[in-house]
Amino acid sequence: MIAGANSGGANPSGDGMVGRHVVTLDDVSTAQIRELLHKAQYIDAHRKEVAHTCEGRVLATLFYEPSTRTRLSFETAMLRLGGKVIGFAGAQLASVTKGESIADTLKTVSNYVDVVAIRHPKEGAALVASRASSVPVINAGDGGHMHPTQTLADLATLQSRFGRITDLTVGLCGDLTFGRTVHSLIETLCRFGNVHFVLISPDELKTPRYVIDRIESTATCSYTEVRDLSSVIGDLDVLYMTRVQKERFFNEDDYLRLRDTYILDTEKMKLAKPNMAVLHPLPRVNEIAVEVDDDPRAAYFEQVKNGMLMRMALESSVVGDELPGYEPLEPK
Ligand code: CP
Repeated sequence: MIAGANSGGANPSGDGMVGRHVVTLDDVSTAQIRELLHKAQYIDAHRKEVAHTCEGRVLATLFYEPSTRTRLSFETAMLRLGGKVIGFAGAQLASVTKGESIADTLKTVSNYVDVVAIRHPKEGAALVASRASSVPVINAGDGGHMHPTQTLADLATLQSRFGRITDLTVGLCGDLTFGRTVHSLIETLCRFGNVHFVLISPDELKTPRYVIDRIESTATCSYTEVRDLSSVIGDLDVLYMTRVQKERFFNEDDYLRLRDTYILDTEKMKLAKPNMAVLHPLPRVNEIAVEVDDDPRAAYFEQVKNGMLMRMALESSVVGDELPGYEPLEPK
């Protein structure tokens, strides 16, 4: 087994995270997710104390697809922990243009750094990368498959809004076929249980079967599939809006026909509970009117901040650097 693989090896922190690849959140136990949420809260309250945690560490960000939040927050997270960052944004600048494989890229880059974050348009690319890497690989989004660190940001936002990540009615609205953040979030919430999912999409953009299977195999979770947002918004604790993923459509006419199916505006917000939280992984196009940003129920820019904090928690954990003064949830 390569060093850095999910081998459950030496672990000075006692939380089993050191050297761990995170391709999906199935690579992280529910106890470890709770610990990451706790760490992120600690980091937020102790920014100065943690500023040297990862001194001497280097993160590589290998982004074969566009990104604003994910790449910059991975990088900011390492910089705020005192480490350094290398990488590329856009494969046209790397040797992939000469035909280099993902595996060879990782066999190379993992000699240089302590942790890698990779985004790639192909489903499964992060898994391939993790198998070739001698240091932890974190999936920063692989095609329409998974986006585990976005889910960590989403969970942190639910935790801060509701004080819990269970016992919720969660509406997911828009492109549920290609929206990888939706797939990651549903699968992870199923692990914690007691969630009713309301899956709101046009027929052409319904939730994939493998995600529905996950809900159906969870005794305490349930779902309904509907097309109309207005008729269900009043039932929701959480409304997770998504962008129609233009880049994953084969046919531009289909994209143009479907892209504005849902637009959340102040009129629709009048139908929602007073404490409903509106989440969106961003970027948005038209699916949330800008006027909603001033509504206290809009939580999507909190998600952005939580994304950085959770990536700080994750990066420090997988490289095995202890946060000064941090008391774990589960005592060692
Ligand atoms: N949420 C998210 O993945 O945003 P970016 O595409 O900007 O990274």
